[in-house]
Amino acid sequence: MEWSRLTEVVASGLPVDNQEPETPEYRRSFTWAMHHRSQELAQQVAKQVSMKSARLFLDLGGGPGTYALAFLKANPQLQATVMDRPAALEVAQALAKRDSVGSRLSLQAGNFINDKIAGIYDIVWYSNVLHIYSPSENLKVFRKIRRALKPGGRLIIQDTFLEDPQGLRPLEANLFAVTMLLYTDTGNTYPFQDVRKWLHKAGLSRTRLIRLKKGTGDWEGQLLEARRPVSS
Ligand SMILES: C[S@@+](CC[C@H](N)C(=O)[O-])C[C@H]1O[C@@H](n2cnc3c(N)ncnc32)[C@H](O)[C@@H]1O
Repeated sequence: MEWSRLTEVVASGLPVDNQEPETPEYRRSFTWAMHHRSQELAQQVAKQVSMKSARLFLDLGGGPGTYALAFLKANPQLQATVMDRPAALEVAQALAKRDSVGSRLSLQAGNFINDKIAGIYDIVWYSNVLHIYSPSENLKVFRKIRRALKPGGRLIIQDTFLEDPQGLRPLEANLFAVTMLLYTDTGNTYPFQDVRKWLHKAGLSRTRLIRLKKGTGDWEGQLLEARRPVSS
């Protein structure tokens, strides 16, 4: 159990598997696990987030595309793209093939930290990715997202957030930060206020929380939304 290696990780400043490069096999099995974790939740979340006036949707770091497929199901006018690494997209492709809405899903292979995000979207969905990256990396991604959004378009973030400025609540978000310390180079969990500041710095505005029905989201039932200003 990697938690027993916490002292080593804190002392070295490196995650537990820093010697092993990620293999496509690992990424594929991780991506299937993501799908099994979120397939029920995604249907429930998709029913609660209005996308009536949207046409083009990007699931950034969308992995298996479970959320993209759920939003396609709930919104017949929508076309969706999942951007992720090639091995993750193999899973998304397999799932899209067996889903009646899969013909409205496109795949974009790439690394959104280094590569350009292709296309212009009404909505960018950034789910369970914020916690993998540092504040400066997330700021860089938010700037790219702003450029990938139509004026007035929306970024919607699903993640676990700390709710108080001291970063003590909720306990689960703090425990998850330890997991990020163990497994990622720069990941963490962040207070809402910090994420809002990065969003504004990246040129996104009108931030608001979307509250989900209890027990229906991946985390504490809150999504964070921001918009590209109409005039930018
Ligand atoms: C924790 S999973 C979340 C998957 C999905 N968004 C969800 O909520 O179920 C994070 C995903 O982000 C992808 N990802 C992380 N960094 C990425 C990058 N720089 N470029 C492309 N994909 C990335 C990973 O491959 C993985 O599929």
